[in-house]
Amino acid sequence: MAFPPQFLEELRTRLALSDVVGKRLRLIRAGREYKAPCPFHNEKSPSFYVNDQKGFFHCFGCGAHGDIIGFVMRHDNLAFPEAVEALAGEAGLPVPRATEEDKQRYERRKTLHDLVEQAARWFEQQLYAPAGRAGLEYFQRRGLDTDGMARFRLGFAPGDSGALRSQLLKQGFSEEDMVTAGLLKRPEDGRTPYSFFRNRVIFPVTDRRGRVVAFGGRILEGDGPKYVNTADTPLFHKGTLLYGLSRARQAAADGKPVIVAEGYMDVIALVRAGFEGAVAPLGTALTETQVQELWKLIPDAEKVPFLCFDGDNAGRRAAWRAVERILPHLAPGHSARVAFLPEGEDPDSLIRLHGPRAMQEVLGEAIPLSEAVWRMETEGKPTDTPESKAAVKAALDSRVGQIADRDVQIFYRTEMRRRGSAARAPSPPHRTAACPGVLSLIHTCRARREDQ
Ligand code: UTP
Ligand code: MN
Repeated sequence: MAFPPQFLEELRTRLALSDVVGKRLRLIRAGREYKAPCPFHNEKSPSFYVNDQKGFFHCFGCGAHGDIIGFVMRHDNLAFPEAVEALAGEAGLPVPRATEEDKQRYERRKTLHDLVEQAARWFEQQLYAPAGRAGLEYFQRRGLDTDGMARFRLGFAPGDSGALRSQLLKQGFSEEDMVTAGLLKRPEDGRTPYSFFRNRVIFPVTDRRGRVVAFGGRILEGDGPKYVNTADTPLFHKGTLLYGLSRARQAAADGKPVIVAEGYMDVIALVRAGFEGAVAPLGTALTETQVQELWKLIPDAEKVPFLCFDGDNAGRRAAWRAVERILPHLAPGHSARVAFLPEGEDPDSLIRLHGPRAMQEVLGEAIPLSEAVWRMETEGKPTDTPESKAAVKAALDSRVGQIADRDVQIFYRTEMRRRGSAARAPSPPHRTAACPGVLSLIHTCRARREDQ
């Protein structure tokens, strides 16, 4: 049971440590202190000292050390609440009974959720404090006004590596919990834990119910990784959560498209542009669990999530990796479309440069997953000999073979055969379905850019 802190303070003020110890040992005055043979180890000459001013006892022989409550716990072999009750008796103070509400508040406070929420608030406050000026200016440079910053609860982690710790200690949280929640890092040499996020702008990550469970922190300038993210904790598993998930759930229920982007700033830009179904993985490639989560978001089986990738080589590689992940799990009505951005752009920069309409166009040109599979195995592959044709066919067969659902697999095989014969036809009437290839893709993107 929790005792109100004021009560414990009162106990310590009312009782002199030397009185309490003196009832249990024979104390000898030694200047301003008292000494005695230590009750906690076997010794002949006294090395156990009691200091009333400091309120502490200390044994130079065995290192035993503590305050009045600690002494009674140890000497009388009592648990903390029992020692407090014993001391209250000695002081003639009634022991306050915590109310039901007190107890509940105490329990809640102990939870990591509360801790992480308080940290999020503190990071937010720091952004508007003098210490956060650089962070505020950074977000402003990236086109965010204070409404935008407030909407995403953006914050700032100052360089002072002890500030968050002292703030949360003051609020009654334990250092252990701060380490568990990933807010502090414990040095290997046993020194005081220090802030994990320092000199970074902060993106709070919320769980499916909208509670803050983790943070991403972006560097403003200088050396170091661009983003650091909370490692997995009891509240947060980066492979199962998506940034923006709780908002996207609501948006998807309202019929808005679910869009998977790559970064925090992309989600923010998309949401501000009206694409509230935007989510992003958290510093890793999209996982299978996350894909399943996307399908759960979308009530209408006809609608599929858009996977959005940069138009450059790295983006394409990321797209193919995502396709590989998804293939085995396809099911009737469970698919995805792959959208490519113009080379060098991400949703954030595209929307800033060309507005929400450009993003709408990118989604409009998204390709079905089956086309992505086709491109993945045909683009840049030679097909000028029977052997090379056979190699491509084998690669396609093996990809499609990964689809667990029988019906979906059968229709994919049909689709790949259709594309294969269209590609063999002398000259396809227009560039679309057969084998548009990388070039036409980039041309489309360039053309779109020049339009604007
Ligand atoms: P990007 O490097 O594409 O960054 O990383 P971005 O989102 O466009 O960031 P800005 O616009 O420069 O701020 C995409 C995502 O990959 C993760 C982050 O989640 C980031 O949002 N990432 C990136 C990391 O976890 N660590 C890194 O060092 C870099
Ligand atoms: Mn970016």
